[in-house]
Amino acid sequence: MSFRDAIGRVVSHPTINEFQTRLLGRSRLEAHLNPVAARTFADAPVGTVVDIGGGTARSRAMWPAEWTYYSIDPDARVLEVEATDKHIERLVGDAAALPLPDNSADVVLMQCVSHHLDESTWPVSLVEANRVLKPGGSFIFLDGVWRKRRWFSRVFWKLDAGHYPRTSDQLETAIAKQFQVVETDRFNVVHHSILLTARPFS
Ligand SMILES: C[S@@+](CC[C@H](N)C(=O)[O-])C[C@H]1O[C@@H](n2cnc3c(N)ncnc32)[C@H](O)[C@@H]1O
Repeated sequence: MSFRDAIGRVVSHPTINEFQTRLLGRSRLEAHLNPVAARTFADAPVGTVVDIGGGTARSRAMWPAEWTYYSIDPDARVLEVEATDKHIERLVGDAAALPLPDNSADVVLMQCVSHHLDESTWPVSLVEANRVLKPGGSFIFLDGVWRKRRWFSRVFWKLDAGHYPRTSDQLETAIAKQFQVVETDRFNVVHHSILLTARPFS
C-alpha cells in the first residue's frame, strides 16, 4: 500500500470522516439539502431512497421512517457507526454497479461522494443512478467543487480522502448528459458547493 493510500485509509475512516464533515460545514449543507429532500416525500407517505456512498447513513434522518432507505457504500467500516435509529438497508457496493434493479428508487441521493469517484467511475455512477430511478423520480446531487482561486478550499481538498474534486462546469455537464436538471442551488461553505435536483429524461 502506498503512503497516499495509507493516509487515505486513515482519513476516510467513518469516525474521522464525521469529524471532517463537521469542519466542512455539515450543518450548513444540511440546511440547504433538507428542504430539497422534504419536497420529494411531501406527497408520498412511502417510497424508496438510494443513498450512493451513504457512509454513516447520516442522511437517513432526512426521510420518513416509512420510507425504505438503502445506503450503498464500498467501505464496510461504516457498519461500525450507526447514525440514526430509523431502519437502514446497508449494502456494500460500488457507485459504478449499484446492487439494485432498474426503476426501483423514487429518489437517488449522491451527497459529498463525486470527489471520491475517478474519471471512469464518475460518469458510470450517473448512468447507474439513472438506471435505478423510476420515471419521474428525483436525483439529488450535492458536493463541493474545485475552484483554483479559493485557496483555503484547495487546502481542504489536499487533506480529503477523495482525490477527484471537479469544477462546477465539469459536474454539471456530466449530470446534464443523464438527467434533466430542474433546480440548482450554489452556496459557499468551506468549499463552493452545488446542490442539483434532476429527473430522468421522459
Ligand atoms: C465524504 S463521505 C460522504 C458520506 C455521505 N454521503 C455523507 O454525506 O455523509 C464519501 C463516501 O463515499 C464513499 N465512496 C467512495 N468511493 C465510492 C464508490 N466507488 N462508490 C460508492 N461510494 C463510494 C466512501 O466510502 C464514503 O463513505
